[in-house]
Amino acid sequence: MFESIPHGGKLVNRILQGEEREAARARAKDFKKIALTDVGISDLEMIANGAMSPLKGFMGRDDYQSVISNMRLKNGQIWSLPVALPVAKELASSIKAGEQVALVEAPSQNEQKASHLLGIMRVDDKFEYDKLQEARQVYRTTDEAHPGVARLLRQGEVYLGGEIWLIDHPAGATFPEHRRDPEGTRAIFKERGWRTVVGFQTRNPIHRAHEYIQKCAMEIVDGLLLHPLVGETKSDDISAEVRMESYQRLLKDYYPQDRVLLSVFPAAMRYAGPREAIFHAICRKNYGCTHFIVGRDHAGVGKYYGTYDAQQIFLQFQLDELGITPLFFEHSFYCKKCDTVITSKTCPHDKSEHMFLSGTQVREMLSRGEAPPAQFTRPEVAQVLIQGITANS
Ligand code: ADX
Repeated sequence: MFESIPHGGKLVNRILQGEEREAARARAKDFKKIALTDVGISDLEMIANGAMSPLKGFMGRDDYQSVISNMRLKNGQIWSLPVALPVAKELASSIKAGEQVALVEAPSQNEQKASHLLGIMRVDDKFEYDKLQEARQVYRTTDEAHPGVARLLRQGEVYLGGEIWLIDHPAGATFPEHRRDPEGTRAIFKERGWRTVVGFQTRNPIHRAHEYIQKCAMEIVDGLLLHPLVGETKSDDISAEVRMESYQRLLKDYYPQDRVLLSVFPAAMRYAGPREAIFHAICRKNYGCTHFIVGRDHAGVGKYYGTYDAQQIFLQFQLDELGITPLFFEHSFYCKKCDTVITSKTCPHDKSEHMFLSGTQVREMLSRGEAPPAQFTRPEVAQVLIQGITANS
């Protein structure tokens, strides 16, 4: 029997079907429109398909305050990131409490279908919030150079909260063949007889250190959910298209096909380090994972978080309350003497034997058409990345 229980006990499903969907579509014609950003679209999709269970909508003030102060919803359930809908003041003041609004794709997402209806929301709450307080609590910095903080400072001044219903998936939804809702991944795990599944979050192409920690984890569980994030990332991260190609290439040649599922995670990156690691783990629990990998500087950016802050934050919660077991890995690197990827937990050699390359160094090499050393990136993967990066530049 497969046993992973969704956060809050039950998978949320806010996707309208059949007559209900058509009726909502017809009613929404008269509603005020709110154009969602890429982040809003990701959030809407993940609330609707249950990836963010137990959320049924965008957070109201009480949940928001409780989450940013205590990492819990007001009912006490663990939740680490605010998921509210920011809008401009003028728009907020035109909306009455209890009013239903139409959530549409913003013109920048899809020029032809500027008002493609995605869903509806009943606005139960609207509230002003303190951006700097949110930045301090969630991102541990108010530095505008932090991409999550920069986005927060740019967004609207008022949050709307309320339950949502999804009518249509975004027109630009990428990787349809790899886009599985939590129900879909759970069904596959069950079909394959996996009792334990480790989730792997990534926003980067897979390098040998990733492969090492995934395979260490695979030694102790039945299957791996390779779950790359494909929502909005910062502009200098490698595109999801190129990354997906590199994952497929690697899986084909170096992984047992029947023990890995590649599926996309539609979330937007927040770069909130420790708090985002908790969020990532809880969402993966909803997708049916029993374990979740947290390595070095998970979901971090620049030097805002300590190397293992995203692991330490898990110690604030009891495992049974979290409902998913984090697997912590130390910084992995290639050691010339050991002639393998390893960590300082198991390698006795001096640092001078270790090879390190930063993400920036790798990106620079790739954009010059140079393959990083094979000890760092598999040559097959490097080839895909070079082609993808040089074609896009
Ligand atoms: S993240 O923003 O999605 O965390 P990335 O795709 O680089 O970025 O990392 C995916 C996962 O691999 C994270 O859990 C991260 O901590 C881990 N990781 C990345 N590089 C290493 C490394 N060299 N050693 C150990 N863990 C790593």
